[in-house]
Amino acid sequence: MSLSSTGRSARSTRATLFAPRLGELLHRHRGADLFRLEPDTVGVAGVELMDTLLSARPANAEERPTFKPVQGRLVTRTDAAGLMQAVSADVRAALKKPLGSAVDLSGRWPHVPHVYLRDLVFGEESLRFRILVDRRLELTPKLTWAAVAAGTAMLGKPGTEVPLSNLAARVLDAKTYDDRRYAMYLYRRVAAPVCFTVAALVTNALWLGAPFDDGESNRDILLEALRLLPPSWNILRQASPEFTAVDSRIGPQDDILILPLLSHRDPRLWEDPNTFRPERWVGLDPDTQPGYLPFGHADERCWGRHMVMPLAERLLDLVRRDGLVVSPGQAAGRVELDGLLEVSGVRVVRS
Ligand code: HEM
Repeated sequence: MSLSSTGRSARSTRATLFAPRLGELLHRHRGADLFRLEPDTVGVAGVELMDTLLSARPANAEERPTFKPVQGRLVTRTDAAGLMQAVSADVRAALKKPLGSAVDLSGRWPHVPHVYLRDLVFGEESLRFRILVDRRLELTPKLTWAAVAAGTAMLGKPGTEVPLSNLAARVLDAKTYDDRRYAMYLYRRVAAPVCFTVAALVTNALWLGAPFDDGESNRDILLEALRLLPPSWNILRQASPEFTAVDSRIGPQDDILILPLLSHRDPRLWEDPNTFRPERWVGLDPDTQPGYLPFGHADERCWGRHMVMPLAERLLDLVRRDGLVVSPGQAAGRVELDGLLEVSGVRVVRS
């Protein structure tokens, strides 16, 4: 594991331990525009090159994180838009609920905020749906498929007394077994990130910055956490002739890995790049900061970001209201090599 310190005061006593591969990326390639990672993969972290490559062609079906094909079946634009509308409505309804005095978010993060978000947004769902946003399903895609198949086989709609989310209502409207299984798999694809990604983002924010100064806004804290520990730390594009045309160092067989993890700490773009300083965002528009791509690039930006930010702010409201901090006894936090970049096993306590 490789070390990186987080910031000032209580924050600065905590060390982030990156998995060796991530640590190597940060130490060897930060500040470089393009470098070879594998015989068939180049890494890209130069701001102009990232921009030109991501504009060179739209993402293809396999590259889309949420709506890649389900067991070979393409997800149409209409289905994708309908699903996003359904989950957005569920999140909007959840955000209207009062913060609640009985909530206790102390414990091990990101598990605790994951469960909180699951209960907040999908809590009233029947078990066969709720299981689909379980963290344990991440262990293997086969387990996800098994949970989908089991849930689909439990025929019949739940009783009318069970309030269904908009998302689940779409599954129950499907006419055939295959359609229902497909819809249920997509339920998992859309519902799970609401819990996983938001829990990761807020855990990273707490790790980097708690206890927060009163003058630091939730928005700026989150933008800064997305900079230093971007949950979506890489954007993959498969080899294609458009990329070779942009830069001759990219061969026809080369996939490209765009690395916001590196551009977000590029000393040419950021003053004091490794330090957590939410105030740097005051008056800045995150959508126009060169090399800042926590939610992807220009026209292809994350469709979920308008849900992510208010949910994350709600968690921060609770953290600040209840005086939650990282346990003073915890000096180091690990970031594993995973699709989602998060500090794991953070012990959160009341101050
Ligand atoms: C911290 C939270 C999140 C981060 C950092 C994030 C990041 C990203 C990034 C970097 C992309 C662009 C990927 C590319 O160009 O290849 C993207 C696209 C996308 N994201 Fe997110 N995302 C988050 C949460 C969510 C959530 C909760 C949802 C859905 C409920 C979602 C749905 C999508 C969709 C639909 C796309 C468009 C591409 C596709 O079809 O999959 N995201 N996101």
